[in-house]
Amino acid sequence: MLATISLTRTPQSRLTEDLRENSPFGTNYSDHMFVADYADGKWQDPRIIPFGPMQLSPATTALHYGQSLFEGFKAHRTADSRVALFRPMANHARLNRTAARLAMPEIPEEIFREGLLELVRVDKEWTPYRDGGSLYVRPVYFGTDDSLMVRPATRYRFVIITSPGGPYFAQPIRLLAEETYVRAFPGGTGDAKTAGNYGGGLLAAKLAQAKGYHNVMWLDGKDRRFIEESGVMNIMFNINGTAITPALSGTILPGVTRDSVLTLLREMKVKLEERPVSLDEVLAAHSNATLHEAFGIGTAAIIAPIAAIGHHGKDHEIPTGSTTGLAHQLRTTLTNIQTGRVPDTHNWLLYI
Ligand SMILES: Cc1ncc(COP(=O)(O)O)c(C=O)c1O
Repeated sequence: MLATISLTRTPQSRLTEDLRENSPFGTNYSDHMFVADYADGKWQDPRIIPFGPMQLSPATTALHYGQSLFEGFKAHRTADSRVALFRPMANHARLNRTAARLAMPEIPEEIFREGLLELVRVDKEWTPYRDGGSLYVRPVYFGTDDSLMVRPATRYRFVIITSPGGPYFAQPIRLLAEETYVRAFPGGTGDAKTAGNYGGGLLAAKLAQAKGYHNVMWLDGKDRRFIEESGVMNIMFNINGTAITPALSGTILPGVTRDSVLTLLREMKVKLEERPVSLDEVLAAHSNATLHEAFGIGTAAIIAPIAAIGHHGKDHEIPTGSTTGLAHQLRTTLTNIQTGRVPDTHNWLLYI
């Protein structure tokens, strides 16, 4: 049984309407954070305390050897004036899969769920009211031994912070098919949400941005032939009315939004294929005008239309902005479910 979560409230809330409603993604944080520590083989001292800096040894395992992972999902205001989290327990399951990959202990469901619910209740008023706004929830989990031995840490910290965000107007994105750097390779950590995966992807994104793209389209690590992800999102193509997405091969992050989209597409009776998708196939569909849509899929943007794929010095432009296409329909349906505007028939919402 989880020890009671202690609560130390901030003496002075920082909440303003402007911070709540107009913060750009991931720049401001709510008043409190949830913290729990693992030591002596057990989880201890679950607590909600004012958001603020933490003291760590310069020898902290996470900093040297990358035993660090994170998660991300959102809470929304619902049509009946409540606050609901979208599929947080799917993130808990993914968090524990990542933890296992990094030889870190499992986080028990009750610590994750109770800590999360209590934190979001305490900071509920940080949830934006405006259409499209949300409170982004960021769990982070890392090894905290102060030892330079290369081995799994014996001590860990689990923290949840939250961050208000305004509407995310998904600008159509331009992607560069990345043939030099890879995000993942068979047997690596591509299907886990390790911090190191993101550090390893930054240079490719930076170089692509210098060439005028928003991000890269990741190709497989072995042959650079098959499409894997769109920057930090999953990816889907509409080729002649069939929705096609790369199969989860072990090198692709299993997105919660991707899983939700696949469920919705099955219900919409859209023809759906989860299988390897080569860049050649997509470019051929582009040249014979059967590539109707391409889009990224993830928590932050939900659905991000892809306006161009750059390859060998040529930009292949793709139509975006259709209000009858899959991207628009999926975005509308998911938003309506997240905000309780349509019945939650899949039990995806966790009300706080
Ligand atoms: C590499 C990568 N792929 C895909 C996703 C989409 O996952 P989700 O839908 O769970 O946000 C994310 C975001 O978490 C990501 O970082």
